[in-house]
Amino acid sequence: MKVFVTGVNGYIGAVLAPYLMGRGLEVLGLDTGYYRDGWLYSDDRHLACSPQTLNKDLRNITEKDLAGCDAVAHLAELSNDPLGQNKPEITHKINHGGSVALAEKARASGIRRFVYTSSCSVYGAGTGEFLDETSATNPQTAYAECKVLVERDVGKMAGPDFCPVFLRNATAYGPSPRMRFDIVINDLSALAWTTRKIAMISDGSPWRPVVHVEDICEAVYRSLIAPEDAVRGKIFNVGRNSDNYRIREIAQIVAEEFPGCEVTVGPPSGDNRSYRVSFDRIHAELPGFQCRYTARDGARQLREIFERIQMPAETYRFRAYTRLQQIKYLQSTGQIDGEFHWR
Ligand SMILES: NC(=O)c1ccc[n+]([C@@H]2O[C@H](COP(=O)([O-])OP(=O)(O)OC[C@H]3O[C@@H](n4cnc5c(N)ncnc54)[C@H](O)[C@@H]3O)[C@@H](O)[C@H]2O)c1
Repeated sequence: MKVFVTGVNGYIGAVLAPYLMGRGLEVLGLDTGYYRDGWLYSDDRHLACSPQTLNKDLRNITEKDLAGCDAVAHLAELSNDPLGQNKPEITHKINHGGSVALAEKARASGIRRFVYTSSCSVYGAGTGEFLDETSATNPQTAYAECKVLVERDVGKMAGPDFCPVFLRNATAYGPSPRMRFDIVINDLSALAWTTRKIAMISDGSPWRPVVHVEDICEAVYRSLIAPEDAVRGKIFNVGRNSDNYRIREIAQIVAEEFPGCEVTVGPPSGDNRSYRVSFDRIHAELPGFQCRYTARDGARQLREIFERIQMPAETYRFRAYTRLQQIKYLQSTGQIDGEFHWR
């Protein structure tokens, strides 16, 4: 199977490509390269498997680009809430318009399998209850709205000749060469490494589901190879029930993996939006899928990487590892135009 992986130079994509190649799939990558300034570390796995990649914007893909591919794993989007709020109209053009157009081109080229990386952020502001794939969505940002719109529009295309699958990922964590330090476990781990202190500004009571980046890769892999009838048009929350944590528990777990790290909590915050997600469906209905890692494993792996590269504080703070900072830098230096195309 040859898989067209969009966003292959992103945090998840940089792990996904070798993950799929290591399981005998061929990968053709696509990425416009917004975050290529950042490469945290190399290891033999990544060096042994760098896929052929088209340096191209998602919005300019043609059916010709997809020739010879059997499936699409679509990750290339503006990838979090603050980034989506920076210019919501561009978020809609890339994340909603670009994704639906890609699915249409894939179907027109005879590609049947289309795996889309959605997000648990579609559930929006909850009050701590368990939510599952049948719960109402309640998107709070342009980013989350677009995820709902893509699920709706590409979901309608499901049929005998097209098999889309929607993976609503929890917040990811764990090492990737194209690191992100703007997601909670990675951020707290880098803070613990560089300062030995996690000072929380609130009491950390809200719930957050988290999932290891390689478990997301496993979900993508299983969605690619599953029989069509098991997955056609289905939505799966990606994670594990026991990996719903309160933020202060995450801080505690991280601190325990970084000897000498102290955690302090602040006063209760007025904003206690919080949700827990049920991951029963993916374990029951996606053949072969199981989560392998816990938050503690992720924090330990991150410490091992930071130790290996002796990561300095300026690397943690480097703009390319915080998606919004890098995009703002590319905007303010005129490297990308008002539509986020390279000049
Ligand atoms: N990381 C998480 O916690 C998480 C959680 C839920 C869902 N997701 C989703 O998974 C996907 C990948 O997330 P990530 O963390 O790897 O994000 P990322 O920002 O690290 O990677 C996204 C990649 O897409 C590329 N890209 C963005 N716009 C593009 C365009 N117009 N044309 C071509 N390439 C473009 C970027 O250059 C980047 O390399 C995203 O769709 C994201 O919404 C991520």
